[in-house]
Amino acid sequence: MLRTHTCGELRISDTGNRVTLCGWVQRSRDLGGMTFIDLRDRYGLTQLAFNMETNPVICEAARKLGREYVIKIQGIVKERESKNAKMPTGDIEIIVDEVEVLNIASTPPFTIEDQTDGGDDLRMKYRYLDLRRNNVRANLELRHRMAIETRNYLDKQNFLEVETPVLIKSTPEGARDFVVPSRMNQGQFYALPQSPQTFKQLLMVAGFDRYYQIVKCFRDEDLRADRQPEFTQIDCEMSFIEREDILNTFEGLVRHLFKTVKGIDLGELPRMSYADAMKYYGCDKPDTRFEMRFCEMNDLVKGKGFKVFDDAELVVGICAKGCSEYTRKQTDELTDFVKKPQVGANGLVYAKIGADGSIKSSVDKFYDPEVLKKWAEAMGAEPGDLLLILAGEANKTRKALSELRLEMGTRLGLRNKDNFQCLWVLDFPLLEYGEEVGRWFAMHHPFTSPLAEDIALLESNPGKVRANAYDMVINGVEVGGGSIRIFNKDLQKKMFRILGFSDEDAQAQFGFLMNAFEFGAPPHGGIAFGFDRLCSLFGGAEGIRDFIAFPKNNSGRDVMIDAPSVIHAEQLKELGIDVKGEISRGCLIAE
Ligand code: AMO
Repeated sequence: MLRTHTCGELRISDTGNRVTLCGWVQRSRDLGGMTFIDLRDRYGLTQLAFNMETNPVICEAARKLGREYVIKIQGIVKERESKNAKMPTGDIEIIVDEVEVLNIASTPPFTIEDQTDGGDDLRMKYRYLDLRRNNVRANLELRHRMAIETRNYLDKQNFLEVETPVLIKSTPEGARDFVVPSRMNQGQFYALPQSPQTFKQLLMVAGFDRYYQIVKCFRDEDLRADRQPEFTQIDCEMSFIEREDILNTFEGLVRHLFKTVKGIDLGELPRMSYADAMKYYGCDKPDTRFEMRFCEMNDLVKGKGFKVFDDAELVVGICAKGCSEYTRKQTDELTDFVKKPQVGANGLVYAKIGADGSIKSSVDKFYDPEVLKKWAEAMGAEPGDLLLILAGEANKTRKALSELRLEMGTRLGLRNKDNFQCLWVLDFPLLEYGEEVGRWFAMHHPFTSPLAEDIALLESNPGKVRANAYDMVINGVEVGGGSIRIFNKDLQKKMFRILGFSDEDAQAQFGFLMNAFEFGAPPHGGIAFGFDRLCSLFGGAEGIRDFIAFPKNNSGRDVMIDAPSVIHAEQLKELGIDVKGEISRGCLIAE
């Protein structure tokens, strides 16, 4: 080892010892008689002291050290005169008597400290410098801990970690595939897995009984703060189980992670049906850190001459506690919020319940005080509250009110990132109808089993069939999802038919799985957690990017290595990709 200690290690008990440290120069202060340098490594910071009087040569050398120089020093640990209680090593400093520059460094493009002046793009371009910052490194340390604890828990439960291939055939998770051309099979392509779904089911047929994998998945879809084109799942599958066993086992995993990583005891996780989640929260991943449930008001509002409500399929509202004093400016802001294209409402109706119980609404012309009182009662509102009401086509209106509910939750400070509310959402619809293409799609994936009691509806009323599927939601984030699988070849065939696959197409795409089902498939089911999402929730962040060492930006680019990039004409030729003419902004012309 080049060093005797790390930069986070030395304490007052080390006083008087001679030590060797290595690290990066974080900051240097030249006070004339003394020069101080903060030396950084992964473990922390240690103050180095150089004395002009006692050791002028070394002090001169220290003054020449630039930011981020990599150095090795030797010296004696000394108790500091002015201690820094904020630093673990703040009681001591090193009186340096030897300095060796291991490497010089260019001036970094942004300050490498907790609060940096580097914008997003710059930090991503120099991600290796960004990763030197404490908070970013701490995120990856958290990720490591989460992975270890996941493995500990699953190992104890008898799960085997099995690696599945990355060069595969398209998997049916509903996003676009990333494809890789095959040189040896020209004109043919591999797809990168959107998940190891089919392989884990094959492992169940193989009798592995309990499988897991912390695994990279690839999806070519529009990116958001909680989506990356390559992301990581904790992917799991079990045999000879029912839904209850899966819920218990993986509730156990999440409880174990909260306990060991955050010291939080989670109680039993509440469960909610998809139908209730939509009815009361307008979305399938409700943020249950706060109530503010939806109240459907059709019966209370129709027939009083207010056309907007009379014509609406659904009139639905929420009660914002203690907001009756909102000013005109504030209610206008909320109206603007709901009218944003991403939210999509046409307007907002509100009613303020004064301290004396009197109600003033934006539609007083149509509704007299007695009716407004009924609204307040239906919503469980009290003096001082504000009712916010939207109307229109049912699904659209629920979605818009769900956004408004979250906005109000944020405004009222009800979404504390240190408060964790987890729940299971159950009984999703099995299928959803794609209007544009005129056919049914699997809401989860085509291997998901219908609830036994709904199988009879498969042909007569597919839209009513509920899936034996479940999502885990934490603070409004879908952190995991899975299902009990179809393990009967005939039911699987029927499912493919409902999804519009001809028998030949189904055979060509998933024949390997259906054939496997001929050789004794056990009843099985599983789940996959979004590992990056779990980590970012645990770390109290909104987005997942800072929990991934080398993430892509919102256009799917790695700006550090500059990928994706054009490839050489020769390479394309080898792959049998016949590109005649110009592709990709004229950068590449194949012969
Ligand atoms: P699903 O598609 O629901 O299920 O994915 C499981 C979980 O993965 C996370 N996730 C993502 N995280 C970051 N970026 C993305 N682009 C992204 N897409 C999904 C989510 C999600 O809940 N094979 C099934 C699981 C199963 O049935 O066992 C599957 O992949 O947190």
